[in-house]
Amino acid sequence: MSVDQHHPAAPERYMGGDLAGATRFPEFPRSAQYQPEWMLENLMGPNAVWLTEALCERLDLRPGMHVLDMGCGKAMSAIFLAREFGVQVWATDLWIAASDNWARIREAGLADRIFPIHAEAHALPFADGFFDAAVSADAYHYFGTDNLYLSYYARFVRPGGQLGIVVPGLRDEFADGVPPHLAPYWEPDFWSFHSPAWWRAHWERTGLVEVAVADMVPRGWEHWLRWLEVATAHGYPSNERETEMVRIDAGRTLGFTRLIARKVEG
Ligand SMILES: C[S@@+](CC[C@H](N)C(=O)[O-])C[C@H]1O[C@@H](n2cnc3c(N)ncnc32)[C@H](O)[C@@H]1O
Repeated sequence: MSVDQHHPAAPERYMGGDLAGATRFPEFPRSAQYQPEWMLENLMGPNAVWLTEALCERLDLRPGMHVLDMGCGKAMSAIFLAREFGVQVWATDLWIAASDNWARIREAGLADRIFPIHAEAHALPFADGFFDAAVSADAYHYFGTDNLYLSYYARFVRPGGQLGIVVPGLRDEFADGVPPHLAPYWEPDFWSFHSPAWWRAHWERTGLVEVAVADMVPRGWEHWLRWLEVATAHGYPSNERETEMVRIDAGRTLGFTRLIARKVEG
């Protein structure tokens, strides 16, 4: 059977024009309040604001909570978290300098609530149990697939606190290698993409957390594709091969895996 008999047709290609309309999705009402130009200027891959909103749908965030934003890139997710939920955010990243993020944080008027930190994921300068929640958008797969990592990372979250990640992922693990329709596009780094079931087992078997949500972000592949096309059309960093791959796959395999857990008490 052809792809189209099983899956929604790929959305119409965005070639330019109505930028506000092209970047507004009914499932992301909070993101719709943010300037698409600002999101484009700070992009480092898939749209971090949309990803963070998808994650927050299933998190319980309250004003004043201590939140770790791990691998925050240019701090858009941290700005979204602080502004939307009134939480305090430790915006932590390796590739982006804390001073650059501090400038963006001040410009957003959130200097009292977001603290930029430059740190490697295995050398975090935080106290054990300091965070009520640790979130990460499009970053955890760079360091968190290691069997040893969660035991290190979870120590910074208080017992009963929340851990949430959203990462590029697969609906299901490949039973028999890369599917033929993805093979021409496959890159070695894509082996860090995993299914909700894989991530659930990866975390649950440690006994450190109880997983509450392990799923694919609804319509995630469409968000991924739209953002790549918007970036291309407006002259921002994008990737033609990746765009074709996501379009051809049409949600059969690729999307965003979302995982939310609570650290066990005691
Ligand atoms: C694709 S970027 C995404 C950035 C941001 N979350 C976003 O969505 O725009 C991946 C981020 O993961 C961070 N990262 C990757 N490996 C890391 C490590 N070992 N320690 C800390 N951060 C890391 C990088 O600094 C980078 O900003």
